Amino acid sequence: MSIQTDQIAKLVERRENARLGGGPKRIDAQHAKGKMTARERLAMLLDEGSFEEYDMFVQHRCTNFGMEKQHFDGDGVVTGCGTIDGRQVYVFAQDFTVSGGSLSKTMSEKICKIQDMAMRVGAPLIGLNDSGGARIQEGIDALAGYAEIFERNILASGVVPQISVIMGPCAGGAVYSPALTDFTFMVKNTSYMFLTGPAVVKSVTGEVVDQEQLGGASVHASKSGVAHFAADSEEDVIAKIKALLSFLPQNNLDVAPEKPTSDSIARSEDSLNSIVPDNPNKAYDMYSVIGSIVDDGAFLEVHKDFAKNIIVGFAHMGGRSVGVVANQPAVLAGVLDINASRKAARFVRFCDAFNIPLVTLVDVPGFLPGTQQEYGAIITNGAKLLYAYGEATVPKVTVTLRKGYGGAHIVMSCKQLRGDINYAWPSAQIAVMGADGAVNVLYAKDMKDNPEKAAEIFEEKKKEYEELFSNPYQAAQKGYIDDVIEPRNTRFRVIRALQQLEGKRQELPAKKHDNLPL
Ligand code: HXC
Repeated sequence: MSIQTDQIAKLVERRENARLGGGPKRIDAQHAKGKMTARERLAMLLDEGSFEEYDMFVQHRCTNFGMEKQHFDGDGVVTGCGTIDGRQVYVFAQDFTVSGGSLSKTMSEKICKIQDMAMRVGAPLIGLNDSGGARIQEGIDALAGYAEIFERNILASGVVPQISVIMGPCAGGAVYSPALTDFTFMVKNTSYMFLTGPAVVKSVTGEVVDQEQLGGASVHASKSGVAHFAADSEEDVIAKIKALLSFLPQNNLDVAPEKPTSDSIARSEDSLNSIVPDNPNKAYDMYSVIGSIVDDGAFLEVHKDFAKNIIVGFAHMGGRSVGVVANQPAVLAGVLDINASRKAARFVRFCDAFNIPLVTLVDVPGFLPGTQQEYGAIITNGAKLLYAYGEATVPKVTVTLRKGYGGAHIVMSCKQLRGDINYAWPSAQIAVMGADGAVNVLYAKDMKDNPEKAAEIFEEKKKEYEELFSNPYQAAQKGYIDDVIEPRNTRFRVIRALQQLEGKRQELPAKKHDNLPL
């Protein structure tokens, strides 16, 4: 054998060894938990044969607690570049078989390298997280490593889409990096996110809780809102990531790819002409409206199980990617509360950062009042959505279907928040509040002074109020909405509006950065 052949054989052997991560026993343990290895996950995520791996031979430099005797090529993370549906992405996948995927300084250097490259070439970054957090044996070096990653997450925010996937028990720094990214996915029953696990919780606070109750997908996708998507399995999570990417541009200077469709833009939907019930207190399902107007009825919902009184997600209209924000009258009458405001604000800001036009469907009775909401800062949280819409410079097309009351009317992309094209259905009611509430405020004294005539006064004034405000024409007369449209034509009118706005350019005043209410 020549020296060169020998050298090549050594390379092949080292590569094979590196591919085993923490070794066959730990790989078996990973499989026994219903989890795949880092490399198996990447193979599923990326187009076949597209993965270019970097830093396969990197090893940690720690000498504490006998670590100098435990070396694994590549350390606890696999990093590199590949394609998904032919589009370039940068990826890292933490390897739980090596020290529980815990972060060493060298691991952070590997991750930072691909973060820097994603920024340099303008491609999305996807992190598959399966990590016990900072590698305890490395002390302050591991913390420094996390800080390096966080800083890059922050700098990349609004420049390239950043996607985090939680695929195991993730603690400490392993959850703060995802929290800085745009979208977090979890896998039900095998992934957890918490500052620290149940054992430490018990020793600090005495609380006894298991991993699922503390930070399972069911908690973060529905209660805290930390996770945007919850998947049934690792295969399902990969499919969901690919679906999301199909709506996104590569970076903030790019536009999302077009998706050709045979769904005619002129398709009208007769059922929409009768979807709004006569009784304003009766609900209908906003999903039916969204499904009727988007291309092929296809809608990728974000935060599906969190704050269900507002719906946000991606669709295509006339082949172009749009972000849909819609009040849901079927849940809490579509009221805006703290969680709904936070959810929608974050989504609006993402779309604005990545040139995705916003289509807003309004049926909102107002903000939810009461001590619970006030103590939780509904004022500040509601202002987030107001701020997000007012700041957004992407094309904004809004349709008011029914209620648009008070501050909630303003917040939901009204004309004066630089809404570009605002339509209303004939069933729209754009007013400071609903008729009952308004009469009770304006005529309280009259009704109190004439108790025997109170019911009569109420009915008479309610009718007067409804005639004046329970329609879209007051707003139309003043140009606050651009047109009253037949519901069945909504798809066509919205797509035409989006086409008109394709060349939209709008600037914000020069500033260091804004001061969004947090
Ligand atoms: C070093 C770690 C580790 C860590 C796990 N391991 N976490 N090694 N540093 N942080 C090792 C274990 O010793 C074990 O090694 C292997 O990984 C698998 O871990 P297990 O505990 O056997 O697995 P499991 O029962 O599934 O539990 C996983 C876990 C638990 C829930 C993640 O390991 C855990 O609670 N780890 C500590 C979590 C934590 O508090 N991290 C620090 C956060 S502070 P062997 O050799 O036995 O297989 C932090 C700072 C940043 O991250 C803060 C930013 C704001």
